[in-house]
Amino acid sequence: FAFTPANEAWAAAQITKYPEGRQASAVIPLLWRAQEQEGWLSKPALEAVADMLDMAYIRVLEVASFYFMFQMQPVGSVAHIQICGTLSCMICGAEDLIAVCKEKIADKPHALSADGKFSWEEVECLGACTNAPMAQIGKDYYEDMTAEGLSRLLDDLAAGTVPAPGPMNGRFASEPKSGLT
Ligand code: FES
Repeated sequence: FAFTPANEAWAAAQITKYPEGRQASAVIPLLWRAQEQEGWLSKPALEAVADMLDMAYIRVLEVASFYFMFQMQPVGSVAHIQICGTLSCMICGAEDLIAVCKEKIADKPHALSADGKFSWEEVECLGACTNAPMAQIGKDYYEDMTAEGLSRLLDDLAAGTVPAPGPMNGRFASEPKSGLT
């Protein structure tokens, strides 16, 4: 792994934001940029970040493996689906969403679909409980999801279209919005 020249320059600029001896504070932005570049965080990518920040590899691994936003194994080339499986979402139908992922992507979390386009995992609360159940895809939240909505969403992504987000009615209770449900 090597950062592209543009990303390396960006990473160097991030490091200068912190006082001498505190370069490790830049670990999360550098990991995020490495993941944006490669889609996931390989061991060489973690080692490159550790070298840039003068950190032990194990310290970088500890950070990367703590957060759901970091992927420690290859993900689908089109999308990695994160289904919230915490209480509110589970009560409101997360198991139905997981069943769709098992049927349309792969039986096991983190496995790639047969065409390599998709992967999925169950994650802990993503802070959108008022619109449970929900899924995160990349940086986007899809809330008030149904099994049918998630199935359509996967079809849209496979076809190269960007689905509309969920209605988020809980968040905008006075102004219900239509959307993907
Ligand atoms: Fe699912 Fe909080 S329980 S977003």
